[in-house]
Amino acid sequence: MSITEHHVEIFGSEPDGVFRAPGRVNLIGEHTDYNDGFVLPTPIERYLQVSAKKRQDNKLNLYAIDFHEKAQHKLDKLSYDKERLWANYVLGAADVLQRRGYPLGGLDICITGDVPIGAGLSSSAALETAVVRGFNELFNLGLDPVEAAYVGKACENDFVGVQSGIMDQFVSSLGEHGKALLIDCRNNEYSLHSLSADTRIVIVNSMMDRSLAGSEYNIRHSQCVEAVKLIKIKHPEIRALRDVSEEMLIELWDDLPRLLARRARHVVTENNRVLESIKLLDKGDLLGFGELMYDSHDSLRHDYEVSSKHLDFLVDYTMDLDGVLGARLTGAGFGGCTVNLVEADFVEEFTKIITERYFNRTAKRCEVYLA
Ligand code: GLA
Repeated sequence: MSITEHHVEIFGSEPDGVFRAPGRVNLIGEHTDYNDGFVLPTPIERYLQVSAKKRQDNKLNLYAIDFHEKAQHKLDKLSYDKERLWANYVLGAADVLQRRGYPLGGLDICITGDVPIGAGLSSSAALETAVVRGFNELFNLGLDPVEAAYVGKACENDFVGVQSGIMDQFVSSLGEHGKALLIDCRNNEYSLHSLSADTRIVIVNSMMDRSLAGSEYNIRHSQCVEAVKLIKIKHPEIRALRDVSEEMLIELWDDLPRLLARRARHVVTENNRVLESIKLLDKGDLLGFGELMYDSHDSLRHDYEVSSKHLDFLVDYTMDLDGVLGARLTGAGFGGCTVNLVEADFVEEFTKIITERYFNRTAKRCEVYLA
């Protein structure tokens, strides 16, 4: 059944429009966006969709098709829904828009999607982006795609309570399939870079729960803020870890608490890796690009400590496979997925091998998706 058919069944009439936005996989540049740094995600061919019809009152009537759950809220009394967590991405987007002075009206909304939930592929950012698209179009708000992305980010930061950066909403709003999107998260400059036709981006879902992601994520965020504060004592010109060079870190290494120094080292080296990876991608040096992915994983594993045993298995299992050019955890970490750069004619074999190895070690079945 299509989303429109569901909408008619639940609300009794056709929606005014259907809006959708994709999930994403990040190729390199992890935990750099909230440090004013660089990221390189690409959208995946999986979407969140919302159908919406205007109402005469100020109610948001929501129906999550995949959960068979309803939620009803009023635009003048929006607050966090503790029972239906999915609803908060709609409520939060509405709340941010209203606080920014955009006039909204009531809507009947159905939601569905095929982005795996809680897998680190940004189903929540896709939902926020699709919802903002809907509000934007139905109420003629005149938001451009970058502004729309920042509404989604504010929903996440101020309503949901995760101090995430702009990457997920930005690529969901502005990404193009088959292209990597380089984003400078300080000034929102971006550029699209073609991916090679001979390789595929393969996502492997460890199927491990990411329940730590929210709390540990916010802890990493505060550690970065703390590191900036301490580095500023000697280098008052820096605003974020983006401005810290490897030389500065070496100079300050013994003065900084070791944990913060390691967190900072991840961000500083990861930003450099993104800039280097773009040069390699544009030159067609996929082998070099893949090596940077492995370096990124090492840094996330040891310095930033956001990997997990299961993600490490999945990355380690690719090391002896010639058809795999690179692998790393993708997204916030603590479970979720790895992203693998695989030669096109090795994808089938890769899927078989990784599934088998993972099962033999963990007695769990991983899922494999092509980006
Ligand atoms: C989550 C956040 C992003 C980004 C990544 C880590 O996906 O939503 O803003 O920080 O984690 O790179």
